[in-house]
Amino acid sequence: MKKFLVAALVLASTPITFARAQTNDIPHIEKRDNHFALIVDGKPFFVLGGQINNSSAWAATLPGAWSAAEALHANTVEAPVYWEQIESTKGAFDFGNVDLLINQAREHHLHLVLLWFGTWKNGQNHYVPEWMKSDPKTYPREETSYGKLLDVMSPNSATNMDADKHAFAALMGHVKSIDGTDHTVIMVQVENESGSVGSIRDFAPAAQKAFEGDVPANLARSLHVASGTWMKTFGADADESFAAYSTAHYINEVAAAGKAEYPLPMYCNVWFAYPVHALENRDRPSAGQDYPSGGPQQGNVAIWKAAAPSIDILAPDFYSDDFTLFRNIVATYHRADNPLFIPESQMGSNFGRYFFYALGNGAIGFAPFGIDRSAPVTQPADQVLAQVASAQGGFSGAVVRPGTPAENFALFGASEQEIAQLNLDGKLLTAVEEKGAARQTIHLASADAVVSFGFPQPDGTYPPGTPSLQGRAMVAQLGPLNFLVTGFDASVSFTLPSAELTKTPNQQLEILRAEEGQYVGGVWQVTRILNGDQTDRGLNFRSATPPLVRIFLHTLPLYDEALHRVAQ
Ligand code: DGJ
Repeated sequence: MKKFLVAALVLASTPITFARAQTNDIPHIEKRDNHFALIVDGKPFFVLGGQINNSSAWAATLPGAWSAAEALHANTVEAPVYWEQIESTKGAFDFGNVDLLINQAREHHLHLVLLWFGTWKNGQNHYVPEWMKSDPKTYPREETSYGKLLDVMSPNSATNMDADKHAFAALMGHVKSIDGTDHTVIMVQVENESGSVGSIRDFAPAAQKAFEGDVPANLARSLHVASGTWMKTFGADADESFAAYSTAHYINEVAAAGKAEYPLPMYCNVWFAYPVHALENRDRPSAGQDYPSGGPQQGNVAIWKAAAPSIDILAPDFYSDDFTLFRNIVATYHRADNPLFIPESQMGSNFGRYFFYALGNGAIGFAPFGIDRSAPVTQPADQVLAQVASAQGGFSGAVVRPGTPAENFALFGASEQEIAQLNLDGKLLTAVEEKGAARQTIHLASADAVVSFGFPQPDGTYPPGTPSLQGRAMVAQLGPLNFLVTGFDASVSFTLPSAELTKTPNQQLEILRAEEGQYVGGVWQVTRILNGDQTDRGLNFRSATPPLVRIFLHTLPLYDEALHRVAQ
């Protein structure tokens, strides 16, 4: 107990700084135990991202993108690079738009994630150059079982793959030449929501022949299955498994060619298989119809992990108001071999909950989609954001503040490095309000944080919750009894863990000090000391722009030992 008290007091008087190493390391992903961080210039970096619209990476529309990113308090913009634009003539590259992106991102002090719109875009081929689209004999299309040519390139064609490898390698070589030391570009998405819309797999003769052959030995080994034909090995899932392997293998080759030029972290975003509506008379979504067949959807993760080692992350795009589904998707994609990254989400009323949930599950970043709409550049960026969010499920005019993306990002903007470091160390947890769970406990190493959602919270009663379940809170362990805390529509109090109390019952926790503040350049700076109504019965987070709070606790005997003995 004394040890705790001393530790708490020492920490109370020492400003906590996070190491800010200066290196010229290429951005990369670091793993510690089963926790991850994206490392940029030697420091953990949390991506507070915003993805611009598909047709916004042009000189005419970029000004609106930057102002939208600023209004969002983003530190990173996710922006497409179009194959049809950079290689409109075979073999002749024009990186004008890429240069524009990088130069303007620097001017706006933003990082970039480049999205390679290559062979695949939403399960189709719409961004391949015209010289490929118009020559399906040389650059074969995927064919359905009845011979229809699709607007999807065959993933079973070495010619297609080589063309993509060539273009992507040229892109990565160029990025290295202009950004290899600046690190404006911190990550690259290889293709966009790959897989095939229109058929479960390619039935063209070359693909058919491969399908009738054996599953590659290395895939069978990784999946611990006996090698045989696709049908024998995968049964009813043979067609989609074949498509998954073909697509993953192709994209892995593209990524490896790019990494040979410049090995930035690379990920594939996922159009996952959304469950079918309860009223539909079928039990599962259909590959190639409801979602692109062969992409890294939930059921294909193992195949993709085995076949695409050059892809660092399989990253789900999330477009749904179903929180249970979000939890399942996080559980599927947050694995010991896969950092959690949400590269696209809607901006609607659930944004804050999803963001906090992902944060507490070790995410390395999160980005809403379509931040710039297709607005004229003269429209104020915050208005555009409000309209987009409102169109996507809405927050304007709502009685309860569901939390705009900008509110959530503003809270962590100055502290993204500390947040990323705490996640890498496995010390950050969150609670997100759910129906019937207006009070939740976050179990930390030395204390339990009891989170109560909604106000007012009359003494002695269960918290009221919020009408639209928007309460959320974060607690991170900084020292033995020292925590970083924040939240929306939540109060947070601390108790000793019950295991601790069973061992040594005569103790309680007390607040020594609660500091409202901010990390500035890695150093914690106190704005004010919170006390009274702001800390009685819990730290209360009621504002639309809540603060970060560093709280120092200590243990105190529950009873005076001597009196207690007399009373007994
Ligand atoms: C997901 C895709 O990845 C994006 O490029 C965009 O098309 C959005 N869907 C639109 O909702």
